[in-house]
Amino acid sequence: MKILVCGGAGYIGSHLVRELSTQQGYEIIILDNLSKGHIKSIPKGIKFEKADIRDKTALERIFSKHKPDAVMHFCASISVGESVADPLGYYENNVAGTIYLLQVMKKYNVKYFIFSSTAAIFGNPKEVPIPDNARPEPINPYGDTKFVVEKILAWSENAYGLKYICLRYFNACGAHESGDIGEDHDPETHLIPLILQVALGQRESVSIFGDDYETKDGTCVRDYIHVTDLATAHIRALAYLIKENKSQSFNLGSGEGYTVKEVINAARNVTGHPIPDKVEDRRIGDPAILIAGSTRAEQILGWKRKYNTIERYGLQPYSSTFSWFLIGHWDQRGQ
Ligand SMILES: NC(=O)c1ccc[n+]([C@@H]2O[C@H](COP(=O)([O-])OP(=O)(O)OC[C@H]3O[C@@H](n4cnc5c(N)ncnc54)[C@H](O)[C@@H]3O)[C@@H](O)[C@H]2O)c1
Repeated sequence: MKILVCGGAGYIGSHLVRELSTQQGYEIIILDNLSKGHIKSIPKGIKFEKADIRDKTALERIFSKHKPDAVMHFCASISVGESVADPLGYYENNVAGTIYLLQVMKKYNVKYFIFSSTAAIFGNPKEVPIPDNARPEPINPYGDTKFVVEKILAWSENAYGLKYICLRYFNACGAHESGDIGEDHDPETHLIPLILQVALGQRESVSIFGDDYETKDGTCVRDYIHVTDLATAHIRALAYLIKENKSQSFNLGSGEGYTVKEVINAARNVTGHPIPDKVEDRRIGDPAILIAGSTRAEQILGWKRKYNTIERYGLQPYSSTFSWFLIGHWDQRGQ
């Protein structure tokens, strides 16, 4: 099967490409405008098309040249804060861009679509861990762009027979075991790399946005999931979609959450650096707690997290999931 991986030069997409390229029976084509992705993360021998999903002419050329059987869609603008400041830019890239992609898929009769959705569609969840069937109520433009696409997908199935899977992931973290690729966003907005930038001497302190939330230490709680586990979930989702021909959405979380302060403390332990922090005002649109289980993905896709305990890798003394993620990041940065 030919799989078009849109956004395959980015953080999660590049890890998917690594995993997918080890499987039999898939030919991969990466499409990316390199606005945020990295050319060096594209493995040798993988076909690459530099293009923007908002450029329909380019999309048509690529679809007619490669004739993909399925599309995995990682392209998006991904920062909650930026989306609050520039909602139009976010709807343009995340919603309009996806519409163009779906239109071209329809024209070229490509039926299978795997979509990178997000925990941010749930806003302030009423139940934690967030169940797979929780009602989406996004509270920021970023989350809303993803929810809008989920609705577009449902109506497109109804109208055109598109078959899709929405993978709603929580905070991706960690790096590839080879150390070749990892998280490298610019500007970086994710907590773990920001913390590690302090340890690397690249920034003076890490900001904590709000310490008066109703959580155990007042800081926000988030769920962290290893990027390679996300990649394997995509591969299982693709296999499921093709075999069962059934659309579905899945939460991909760890069922565990850590406060911002806990993550910073773990990083202090792992790196031995004092990592100064600075408490700032809450950011608009940040829910207090985001944790999800992965019941549906485990039951239907047979997916299980591999990177779930630090003991597995002998990385004592920190016996918690997220310390492994930290160490994964840390190693990837050559420390
Ligand atoms: N990183 C996370 O923790 C996280 C959590 C939940 C959901 N997601 C979703 O997963 C997907 C991938 O996230 P990521 O962290 O790998 O982000 P990323 O920025 O590293 O990757 C996105 C890639 O898409 C490309 N891209 C963006 N807009 C494009 C366009 N218009 N045309 C062509 N290419 C374009 C970028 O150049 C980049 O390579 C996104 O859809 C994001 O919303 C990420």
